[in-house]
Amino acid sequence: MSEQKQDAEKKIPTPLKYAFGGTAAVTAACVMHPLDLVKTRMQVASGGGAKSASPIELLKAAVKNDGIAGLYKGLSASVLRQSVYSTTRIGVYTSLTEYYHELYKTAPTVNATVLMAAFAGAVGAYVGTPADVGLVRMLTDARLPPADRRNYTSVFNALSRITKEEGVLALWRGAVPTVGRAIVVSIAQLASYTQFRHLAKSQLGMGDGFNLHLVASIGSGLLTATASLPVDIAKTRIQNMKMIEGKPEYRGILDVLVKISRKEGFLALWRGYTPYVLRVVPTTILIFIILEQLNTAYFKYVLGEEYKSKI
Ligand SMILES: *[C@@H]1O[C@H](CO)[C@@H](O)[C@H](O)[C@H]1NC(C)=O
Ligand SMILES: *[C@@H]1O[C@H](CO)[C@@H](O)[C@H](O)[C@H]1NC(C)=O
Repeated sequence: MSEQKQDAEKKIPTPLKYAFGGTAAVTAACVMHPLDLVKTRMQVASGGGAKSASPIELLKAAVKNDGIAGLYKGLSASVLRQSVYSTTRIGVYTSLTEYYHELYKTAPTVNATVLMAAFAGAVGAYVGTPADVGLVRMLTDARLPPADRRNYTSVFNALSRITKEEGVLALWRGAVPTVGRAIVVSIAQLASYTQFRHLAKSQLGMGDGFNLHLVASIGSGLLTATASLPVDIAKTRIQNMKMIEGKPEYRGILDVLVKISRKEGFLALWRGYTPYVLRVVPTTILIFIILEQLNTAYFKYVLGEEYKSKI
């Protein structure tokens, strides 16, 4: 005990910051997977013709076709994606916010959190893109006519077959919209969590604890859902797009947004808002509650101190 440096502030080791972020995000993804499946299927159902199915009908259809396992199609890809994407993104963000505290001895400004979150999201998304491509394809496979299905057996099967059949660059198809979406999501989720947390403490006088984490994560989740749905739809369409007369259907994220609002109406950019909110808000709550609980437990049981958050 006496050997320990008295002046150095105790903190969570960097690898554990990544591990805690990953654990929180993977747990949330497993719990919320069936809604992710429904959301993705609603997004690829393009407007015209057939009446689009409700979330409940889609859940029923998934169970009818493949049993309960039908609800967990693509789970391996989702877990892999979160393990790479969110571990990186949350790890980078929490490391940066802690570094900010060390440098400036104060909570980060709005601008600083926005920049740190955008950077964390971009890095996380770029390394996570291959798993994301695999995930979207597995989630939507069952909707294709049987002859067009790819029948990937797992995400590793998907990744190796995509590499073999379409070349390694196909794994980064949609990297630009994926990174774009992650920047939007990370600003709306991570930066706003920091700010909502700060506001709830300073304006509502809430102490650091479960209620504070809950309030801040609900605010963060609602903002995340609203800001990110259009970008999420664009990303899914790009990853699923077909070639029309030898040319890709969309040129990029803005092209998808413009085409959808022109052909299907502006509000089509928020198609599937209800299942999206029902997925994103609980996911965000789970991520932050788990992350904060892990941090709190580390402080309490390992460092023997009260939790001092740097998020
Ligand atoms: C944040 O950025 C905006 C736009 O660049 C700037 O006007 C504002 O002064 C910045 N705020 C702080 C606190 O640095
Ligand atoms: C996937 O399975 C269906 C039958 O369920 C078959 O028609 C299709 O050709 C298979 N796809 C591939 C790529 O093997």
